[in-house]
Amino acid sequence: MSKVETPESYYRRTLTLSSNDVTRDDRPKTFTLYDREWDLLDEVFAPIYRPSTNVSLDFLDLLEPGRFKWDSMLEMGSGTGLICVTAALAGCGRVVGADINPHAVENTRLNAARHDVGDRVRAVHSDLFAGLGEDERFDVIFWNSNFIWAPEDHEFESPHEHAFLDPGYEAHRRFLEEAPHWTTESGSVLLFFSSTKGDLPGLQRLAVETGRHLNVVRRETIQDGTDMPESEYLLIEVTEAR
Ligand SMILES: C[S@@+](CC[C@H](N)C(=O)[O-])C[C@H]1O[C@@H](n2cnc3c(N)ncnc32)[C@H](O)[C@@H]1O
Repeated sequence: MSKVETPESYYRRTLTLSSNDVTRDDRPKTFTLYDREWDLLDEVFAPIYRPSTNVSLDFLDLLEPGRFKWDSMLEMGSGTGLICVTAALAGCGRVVGADINPHAVENTRLNAARHDVGDRVRAVHSDLFAGLGEDERFDVIFWNSNFIWAPEDHEFESPHEHAFLDPGYEAHRRFLEEAPHWTTESGSVLLFFSSTKGDLPGLQRLAVETGRHLNVVRRETIQDGTDMPESEYLLIEVTEAR
């Protein structure tokens, strides 16, 4: 947030941004990113309007061939499925994309089929880990999260708002608590977060409360060009505090 912006004012502004992303006249039904074409359903987070999908691909080493290193991945909040599908195309043998937004689940299925990786990408309608089989474990769990703070009593007016807003950081608290239980023994939990748009001190307090350690493993500052001049994005590894 800029110096003059408070969490409350940024929350209000994000409601408008979210609504504009869904209702703008030029919102396409398909888009091209990195020479691949993708379906974009109504009410689903659009990677073409916000930089975080792109930076996520970079942080996961999915922009250069041969660098993605995990055999199984859970993508929390899969949206269009672009990251899931790109991971599968990079050789990841088992990918699960979970999303609380049913349109995103359908969108992930469509893009997996479009790119012929439907046998390796499973889309699940799920509030965090609730929809997974209890024995499922992953080499990496990744979430480009809804890191914008919202008041605890915020009522979602559209499925799309879940892409941005987490009332009282309740979903982040549960993610920190639960995610380490869903990895393989040497697996990693990676949270994509913004220190300029999200409440990093608030996330750190939650980590202490849930017995988790946060370690920033990648960071990138970019000229956002959308809603603030510069944004810092972080890839945070979440581990159990010793
Ligand atoms: C910033 S969007 C990222 C979408 C996609 N991964 C991308 O990078 O283009 C965050 C996603 O998390 C999903 N989400 C938010 N809360 C969730 C929850 N409690 N359980 C599962 N998914 C959730 C949203 O619906 C949204 O699709």
